[in-house]
Order: sequence, then structure tokens, then C-alpha cells
Amino acid sequence: MTTRRDFIKSMSLLTAAGLAAPSVLAEEYKRGMMGANDRINVALIGCRGMGWSNLNDFLIHPDVDCIALCDIDRGILEGRASELEKRRNRKPEIYNDYRKLLERKDVDAVIIGTPDHWHCLQMVDACAAGKDVYVEKPLANSIAECDVMVAAARRYERVVQVGQQQRSGNHWHEMKKYIDSGKLGHIAKVNVWGNFAYAAILNPVPDSPVPAGVDFDLWLGPAPQRTFNERRFHGSWRMFWDYGGGLLTDWGVHLLDMALWGMNVTGMPKRVMATGGNFTYPQNYAETFDTLTVLYEFDDFTIQWSNVVVESGPYGRNYGLEFVGTNGTLVANRESWEVYPVQNRTEPVKSMPNYQDHKDHVTNFLESMKTRNKNTACTVENGSLCAKYAHLGNISARVKEALVFDDEKKTFRHKAADELIKPDYRKPWKFPRVG
Ligand SMILES: NC(=O)c1ccc[n+]([C@@H]2O[C@H](COP(=O)([O-])OP(=O)(O)OC[C@H]3O[C@@H](n4cnc5c(N)ncnc54)[C@H](O)[C@@H]3O)[C@@H](O)[C@H]2O)c1
Repeated sequence: MTTRRDFIKSMSLLTAAGLAAPSVLAEEYKRGMMGANDRINVALIGCRGMGWSNLNDFLIHPDVDCIALCDIDRGILEGRASELEKRRNRKPEIYNDYRKLLERKDVDAVIIGTPDHWHCLQMVDACAAGKDVYVEKPLANSIAECDVMVAAARRYERVVQVGQQQRSGNHWHEMKKYIDSGKLGHIAKVNVWGNFAYAAILNPVPDSPVPAGVDFDLWLGPAPQRTFNERRFHGSWRMFWDYGGGLLTDWGVHLLDMALWGMNVTGMPKRVMATGGNFTYPQNYAETFDTLTVLYEFDDFTIQWSNVVVESGPYGRNYGLEFVGTNGTLVANRESWEVYPVQNRTEPVKSMPNYQDHKDHVTNFLESMKTRNKNTACTVENGSLCAKYAHLGNISARVKEALVFDDEKKTFRHKAADELIKPDYRKPWKFPRVG
């Protein structure tokens, strides 16, 4: 089989002989000459939590090398570089600024494991630099960023996988097949919930000097300037609007993705209505809501999201989703799905996962890169749809109004809600344009 390097060598000879212009070379490369036996060089941007977990599943593949790591926290960066060196006997290059990393021609793909407010700039810049991208969920921290990321993946013809690993899960596929069979009857309601205690920050600390080795200005990036506070930093940034969207963007996108997929929804709801606040813990330091209910309205069904910070929930599950059909109710989460029949109108069914979702998701991305298949298990369009649903819910709760979002004209026709569609990037960062 022709490997990518064989191909590039032969194309270089042609180029040297004046037979193929470099643009032809780039075009052929884009079209998929990466052979099944060829090696893939990846780089990781954002090394602390999920980015590192992602990389570990990439490294299961012997044909993958991680040649570079990037983080704004020197301690994390150096620690991860040593771990990687032990594992693969080769030290990766380390970077503080992802733009320098993207200048490297030998990086085929980047994994983006940074906080949500960074996904858009880093993903668009990576696409423009000709890299394929595995980007964590939620796709972005705003509706407008989702749109520009979809545009970038298309414009630069990149293979993109969004980190919603359920899309590669065997039991989720079985669930979808079961729903599509029609055995549940008419599904008029889908309930989705994610109840996690970590969304309440009950031990605030005062602002403090930036820890040694942290480039806090680069952590903030396009987000508004502010002094350092440990509770708004590593891990718990997700509970502050400038960087994340609370449980609805954190868990909601995973589960809403399954709800929308199950119900074959590909566009915006007719209306969104939400209410929320820090009702469980009024002293909660988090800005995002510890108690939230969102209703998405469609022609003949509704989808409801709810979260609290008390870790219990229906069917003994603190997170999951429930498709309520006239013949039975299907309840699902990562542990299993099962059908509770209405009288005897359908059979009870139970399906267990193989717990390979994440590994299979990474494998799907790598295979898609090799074949230049843009239709990955979770495309940028899939990621964008459910991220937008999450933002719709948060926006409705923040402005305390039922809203209709016109996704063509990009407006709610509501001043305060429209102001939350697109963030103002802090200078010198500029909201990306894809021309
Ligand atoms: N797919 C999943 O199941 C899953 C699970 C957890 C988290 N996530 C997602 O992964 C992302 C990261 O979450 P986390 O919990 O690992 O966060 P985290 O705060 O633990 O880690 C983020 C890392 O990014 C680094 N970083 C911040 N700005 C950077 C920049 N400009 N350049 C380089 N590095 C930068 C931080 O220093 C930190 O090391 C989030 O989008 C989150 O939603 C997905």
C-alpha cells in the first residue's frame, strides 16, 4: 500500500520535474492519500483533564505519535511531557502558545482539551493551518462560535470529531435502533436530566496572585479581563458564563445529543422556555444555575432538560434520559438502557454497554482521517446542534423569557437574548472570520 510518505516522495519528484504544482500536491493530500499503514502525528492543546484522557486513548494506537503538547500551566505541561516520555520513550516538544504549535507542518491532527471559551479560536486556527481536529464538547461557548466552527471545518475541508463519545457507543446505537423500530409507540415527551454536586461551589476563596508557572492572560484569552481566582480556574471554570455553561453545557450536550438523535431532530425547536437559579444553595459561588429546567417545544413532542446539584434522580439514576412512548418508556444512561412497558404493549428489554465508547470514538476519528471521511461519528454539525440547544436553554433562563431562535437570521428578536449569541472577544483576540 502507498504510504503518505511514499506518495509525497513521488509527488515531490513530479514537482521537481515540473509535472505537478505544489497546489496539486496539497489537493491530493487533502483528498486522502494517507495510507492505512501510515503514521499519524497528533498534538494536544490543554493537557490537564479530558485532553489528557483523550490522548491516552489515541496512544493505544501504535501508529499514533504525540509529538507536541501545549498548555498555559508550566507545571501541568512539564508533568504531562515526562509522563509521555516514559510511556513512549520520546520527549514531545512543549508549547505555551498554541499558535506556535500550529506552525509545525508535521502535526496531522490536534486534540483540543481546553476550557470551552477557547474551543472556537483554537479549532478554527487549527483548521486554517490544515490540521484535523478532535475537539471536546460542548463545541463552543456560544451560538455564534458554533456557526463559525462549522464554516471552518467545511471551508478548510478538515476531518473533525467532537468529543461526544456516546455517538460511538454500542448500546446507544442499539437504543437508536430500538426507538426507530417504533415499538415505543408515539413518543410525546423526552426527559433529560443531569444532577451533579460539583456544579455547586460552596467554598469560595478570595482573588489571589496568579500561581507560578501559569500564563493567566493566555488562559483568559478572548474572555474578559479579571483578577485570578482559583475557583474560576482549573476544572471549576465551567460554572462561570465567560468560560462555560454549567451542567447544561457540561452534561447536557452529551445527553441532549442522544435525545435529538433519538427523535431525529436536525434543526432548532419551535420555542424554548427555561427557568433556573441558585435555588438549592443561594450561597453558591457559581454563576450558572444549580437548579434549572428547560423545555424545548416541537410540533408533536417536547424535550425537557433539568438539573439540580443533589445527586439523585428518576429510576435511581442521577443522570440519564427517558423517552416516554405510548407503549413503553425507554430509560437510558451510560450504564444501560431499558424499556418499561405500558401494560403489555411491548416487551421489557435491557441493553448493557461494552464501555468502549471513548476508545471507539478515537478509533473512528483516526480511521476517518486516513480515508478523509468528513462524516465522523460525531461531526462538527452534530456537535453544533446540541451545543446550540444547550445555549438556547441557558439564554432563556438568563433573560427569563420564552424564546424563539431564528437560526437563519441569527436572532431571537429579543435584545437581551441577542446580546448573548456572540461573545465580545477581549483584544487583541478577534472573533474568527472564515472567508
Ligand atoms: N467528553 C467528555 O466526556 C468530557 C469530560 C470532561 C471534560 N470534557 C471537556 O473537556 C474540556 C476540558 O475540560 P477539563 O475538565 O479537562 O478542564 P481542565 O480545566 O481540567 O483542563 C483544561 C486545560 O487546558 C489548559 N488551557 C487553558 N487555556 C489554554 C490555552 N489557551 N492553551 C493551552 N492550554 C490551555 C489548562 O491549563 C488546563 O490544563 C472541556 O471542554 C470539557 O467540557 C469532556
